[in-house]
Amino acid sequence: MAKPPMGTKVLEQARTYGIGNLRRHILLCAGPDCVASGEGEAAWAYLKKRIVELKLNIAPEMVYRTKCHCLRICMDGPIVVVYPEGVWYRLARPEVIERILQEHVLGGRVVEEFRIAVNPLPAGEK
Ligand code: FES
Repeated sequence: MAKPPMGTKVLEQARTYGIGNLRRHILLCAGPDCVASGEGEAAWAYLKKRIVELKLNIAPEMVYRTKCHCLRICMDGPIVVVYPEGVWYRLARPEVIERILQEHVLGGRVVEEFRIAVNPLPAGEK
């Protein structure tokens, strides 16, 4: 993702990426502790490419993606989390990412064989 041009205001930048209208957020840990960095980066590159190819980054899907370098599981990576459902996945290499996109994001079904846990975040509930 390119850095914003000089002078871009933060609200413009957020709007550029659909923030305010997002429907899903996918976090991917690219290692280095849960997976070798090269494999983690390959998974990240695949996720980014497929989101665009499947047009998931635009309405109505509006999927946002974020790469991070630790989600505190630190084994069986790459680790992926899909919100709003809060489904945590392990071993999210490209073939598993493809299943997450096709079955979970597009089909609404959790990919059970790679699921670690489910933890939706109940906003506003106490
Ligand atoms: S390095 Fe990936 S979860 Fe910690």
